[in-house]
Amino acid sequence: MRLPFVFAKRFVAGETFEATVPKIKSLNEKGISVTLDLLGENVKKRTTADETVKEYIRLLNDIHSAGLKSTISIKLTMLGMDIDDDYCRDNLYSLLEEAKRLDSFVRIDMEGSDYTQTTIDIFRDAFKKYGKHVGIVIQAYLHRTKDDIRDLAELGADVRLCKGAYKEPERIALQNMSAIREAFKEYTKILLEKTPYPRIATHDDELVEWVKEYTGEQKIGKARFEFQMLYGLREETMEQLVKNGYNARVYVPYGTMWFPYFKRRLMERKENIWFVVSTLFKK
Ligand code: FDA
Repeated sequence: MRLPFVFAKRFVAGETFEATVPKIKSLNEKGISVTLDLLGENVKKRTTADETVKEYIRLLNDIHSAGLKSTISIKLTMLGMDIDDDYCRDNLYSLLEEAKRLDSFVRIDMEGSDYTQTTIDIFRDAFKKYGKHVGIVIQAYLHRTKDDIRDLAELGADVRLCKGAYKEPERIALQNMSAIREAFKEYTKILLEKTPYPRIATHDDELVEWVKEYTGEQKIGKARFEFQMLYGLREETMEQLVKNGYNARVYVPYGTMWFPYFKRRLMERKENIWFVVSTLFKK
């Protein structure tokens, strides 16, 4: 059974690009940049992955023609990582050729821990070839991140730091929120020191306040990094950050394959279930 879209609309901007454009424009008008995610993951057939590459290329062109202040975020399992690594890398390169031509940017989202190593390997190859047009995501809750973050920082990579959204066992990831927050702070410091423009992705007030204080104390300019949040969450906080001179970007997911993304949002915060229920009663 497929849930109707009305359930997802709290977290998903639309089922088509056209339906999503007004929401992107409205964020851009408030000084907030966007990264657009055409939802989907774990593609098993080459024909579907091939079609996805074409759709992403079309999307980069549509963003460009509409003059939107938006990059894109993608998942490598949409480009065939479950099928074959070399095939997936070639698909990413096709997309990055277009991103380079349009002077745009592609962020590789980070998926579950079975994919971490391959995602980093493919990113490193892509970074050598496409430099500023490609970035990666690192999850603070993974134990391995203490090594990965140093390697990526040495490269000068464009990194989005988040806590991590997938259910992982204790041997792979921290389970305790205060330990995850401490790791998040330590990794933020490394990124601020070593990389040109870190992206700090969290809705957590404690971390947002800490970043503001730390960068203030260290005299790190507000233009040297950006805050990122998910569509449908804390828009007022983002507006306030922009008013206070910080850079802000919202991750805007859209498309018909919204269920796994929607489920992750419900699982990570019980209040999100209430948001969805209340949306059902609003026009
Ligand atoms: P968390 O849910 O841990 O909440 C901590 C505290 O923050 C709460 O107790 C509350 O005080 C406050 N808070 C949080 N949400 C609030 C709200 N809506 N209203 C009021 N207070 C609130 N994950 C991944 O594995 N791979 C990826 O590629 C990405 N990409 C990504 C991009 C962007 C832009 C973001 C913001 C997040 C991701 N994530 C992700 C998801 C990320 O890993 C994580 O699961 C969520 O951001 C939830 O963690 P938070 O730090 O945001 O707050």
